[in-house]
Amino acid sequence: MRILALESSCDETAITLLKISKGSLSLEKNQVYSQANIHQKYGGVIPEIAARKHVETIIPLLEENLGKKRLKGIDYLAVTSGPGLITSLLLGITAAKTLAYSNNLPLIPINHIEGHIYSNWLSHKELVKNSKKYFPALILIISGGHTELILMKNHGEYQLLGQTVDDAVGEAFDKVAKMMNLGYPGGPIVSKLAEKGQNEYDFPRPMLKDGNYNFSFSGLKTAVLYSLEKKGRINKKDKENICHSFQEAVREVLIKKTLRVRENYKVNSIMIGGGVAANKQIKESLALECQKLNIPFFAPTLKYTGDNAAMIATAAYYKLKNKKVQVLKGAKLLSLSPNSNWQLVKNK
Ligand code: KG4
Ligand code: ZN
Repeated sequence: MRILALESSCDETAITLLKISKGSLSLEKNQVYSQANIHQKYGGVIPEIAARKHVETIIPLLEENLGKKRLKGIDYLAVTSGPGLITSLLLGITAAKTLAYSNNLPLIPINHIEGHIYSNWLSHKELVKNSKKYFPALILIISGGHTELILMKNHGEYQLLGQTVDDAVGEAFDKVAKMMNLGYPGGPIVSKLAEKGQNEYDFPRPMLKDGNYNFSFSGLKTAVLYSLEKKGRINKKDKENICHSFQEAVREVLIKKTLRVRENYKVNSIMIGGGVAANKQIKESLALECQKLNIPFFAPTLKYTGDNAAMIATAAYYKLKNKKVQVLKGAKLLSLSPNSNWQLVKNK
């Protein structure tokens, strides 16, 4: 079976051709075009510019990756339908709908967060082989738009345990970077500087003492802003120390809240997903805690932490395999539209 997937929910245009043969997954094509350098000068993603760039990129990406074979040998199309920037989502969806309808192929709409979850299946053969062994899995989603703790009871069965009440963790990294004019996306830059810094600033650990599993990062971000204002001019060492102290606060909250779930729920593995899953300190710290508790820990391979279409194709495969998906066909698929606030799970 072959699945062609498109992802365009934010500022990455991505395409993947996933082949599934005898239960194992392989990527015949996988390309991500990142617009980060274009948005860099604004310190964040400008939706109108992102959409325009998707328009320019999507057809060349399709042509380059499909070549003369076009859609020959492809059984399904999958596309990110939400959550994300509505104008960005619209471009991927329009391309996928056009391709599916004109080639009489079925189309599978995929939730972006579910894609981030399945980036772990894409990265670990052991999960593909023995999924059941690792359910219920506790998933910590840490991205530019989301921070969620999800209990995954089985393929396609989720329970939302907690989420951010304000900023997402990646967003907080980006905003802290912007305050110091470090560049965009801020996460990788902040984490690099943090490596050289020390825990000099006693930043708050928001909501750590609350008994729930929710997060809040806007107060932490404001605390960084106040420290910067108080300091006035800052040198390289100050920047490194601020980044380090900020990252430490984030790390502690994320890890302690995740482990708290484990105290109250039966969990057979812990997984992370999303752009911030690339953060070495957060990843290694959680891996270490899991090791101490003798609980399997999974993180996506670095190249699948950020937005990509391979994770979307993988999620589509598992939805098909477990018959937990509405496959759109013929005229019906034309009604698919972006759902910028699509929540994977609503319940608590
Ligand atoms: O998953 P993603 O690519 O896009 C969304 O779905 O939002 O996540 C992007 C986010 C950005 O906020 C970026 O700064 C952050 O992931 N990020 C990091 C690191 N690498 C990327 N944050 C902290 N440390 C990193 N190493
Ligand atoms: Zn993402």
